[in-house]
Amino acid sequence: MANAQDQFDDGREIELLHYVYGLPADRLAKVRNNPDGVLDAIDEYGRKKKYLMNVGAAKGKIVRDLVAEVKPATMVELGGYIGYSAIAFAGEVKKHANGRSVKYYSLERNPEFAAVIMALADLAGLSDVLKVREGGALNLTNSQTSGHYSHVVFAGHRWSINKLYSTTKERIRRVAH
Ligand SMILES: C[S@@+](CC[C@H](N)C(=O)[O-])C[C@H]1O[C@@H](n2cnc3c(N)ncnc32)[C@H](O)[C@@H]1O
Repeated sequence: MANAQDQFDDGREIELLHYVYGLPADRLAKVRNNPDGVLDAIDEYGRKKKYLMNVGAAKGKIVRDLVAEVKPATMVELGGYIGYSAIAFAGEVKKHANGRSVKYYSLERNPEFAAVIMALADLAGLSDVLKVREGGALNLTNSQTSGHYSHVVFAGHRWSINKLYSTTKERIRRVAH
């Protein structure tokens, strides 16, 4: 029998979009431009409809606290799926921008998932900060992050940092020092 974690890419990601955008008008209005409201709606879909392989609120809080502490101007995520972590962490990056121009890059190889992230990021009011780059993230390129070095990298997938190609490791090493 398949684990819940293995259940994805069966149409549920698009179904999620219909669920969120199909919320009653008054609820949708409260969710618009409200990252935490969008996260609540995604959690609700995961509870009531189908499992989604998101970082979730508990583990997400650890990273959100880190972002609040580090206040990165640029953050990169490897593997965005439907945008839960991207919305949670880009929202936090924006909250701590303190007048700086900040960016959160979410790299996602599945173009359908990348489109879902963009639609939910727009609803959350984060399109100015959250940039989705469709394509494989194992060889992180300058163009994927518009030439910016990141201050925080979130590995949103089970491949370990050690498996990332050397260019990626070099970029991560450079930002770690
Ligand atoms: C566990 S999900 C990410 C969950 C997301 N970070 C969150 O917490 O909301 C892993 C995602 O990584 C993507 N992925 C896997 N290999 C990838 C690669 N080489 N480059 C970019 N994305 C990749 C998958 O398509 C999937 O959407």
